[in-house]
Amino acid sequence: MKYMVFKDAKAASRKAYEIMQKKINAHSTLGLATGSTPIELYKEMIAGFEAGEFSYKDVKSFNLDEYVNIDKNHPESYYSFMHKNLFDHIDIKEENVHVPAPYTDDDEELARITAAYNAELENAVIDVQILGIGSNGHIAFNEPGTDFASTVHIVNLKENTIKDNCRFFDYDMAKVPKRAMTMGIKNILAAKTIILLAFGENKKDAVAKLLSGKEDIEYPCTSLVEHPEVYVLVDEAADPEK
Ligand code: F6R
Repeated sequence: MKYMVFKDAKAASRKAYEIMQKKINAHSTLGLATGSTPIELYKEMIAGFEAGEFSYKDVKSFNLDEYVNIDKNHPESYYSFMHKNLFDHIDIKEENVHVPAPYTDDDEELARITAAYNAELENAVIDVQILGIGSNGHIAFNEPGTDFASTVHIVNLKENTIKDNCRFFDYDMAKVPKRAMTMGIKNILAAKTIILLAFGENKKDAVAKLLSGKEDIEYPCTSLVEHPEVYVLVDEAADPEK
C-alpha cells in the first residue's frame, strides 16, 4: 500500500489523476465512486479531456453503487450524479457506462439485476478503481461486518444514513431510499489498481485502521491491506499521524 499525504483535496486529486493516467490506456475500464470525495478528481479528468490529453471514447466504467427504487433521473440518483459531475463533460459513450440500475422495489427483479451486474463485473477487468471511504470505514455501501468475500448485493441502509439523506429528499423520510445495491468487497478487490481518497478530519479513524495493516471485518476498508496495488491519498486533515 502506498500512502501519501497532501496539503488539500485538490493536490491529492491531482496526484490521483496522474496515477490513473499512468495506469490506463484508450481502452481501459474504470471503477467509479460517487460522494463528495471524487469530485476534484473528476474535475481533473474533465480538464484533461478538454485540454486534449485523453479521450474516453473507448473507455468503459462501472460504478460502485446506487439507491434501490429511486427514479433513475432523480437529481440525487447516482446515475444523475455521475452524469452531472463527469459523464456529461467527457466523451465516454453512454453504452460504455455502467451504473447499477436497481430501479424497482420488487425483490425478484432486484435479485435478477444484482446477478446481472455481478456477471458484468466478472466479465470485465477494472484497471483503476476509485474509492472514497466512510467515517466508519465503509467502502461503497459495504458497511461494518460485511463479508470480505461479498459480491454485488442489496443492503438495508442504516437508520442514521437514512436520516442524513433526508435533506436531499425534501426532508421527507418517506421519499428517502431505504436500500441500495452495491459492489461487494470481492468485486472491489478484483481491480488491478485501487486509488482510495480520504479528505477531512472525520476520515482520520478509518484511515488509521487501514494503515494498521490488519484485516478487521468491522472496518471494511481493511480488506484492502492484502491487495497488491493500493494507493491511499489523503489531505492533512485525514492524516492520523498529524
Ligand atoms: C460512493 C460510496 C461511498 C462513499 C463514502 C464517502 O459511491 O460508495 O462509500 O465513497 O460514503 O462519501 P463522501 O465522499 O461523500 O465523504
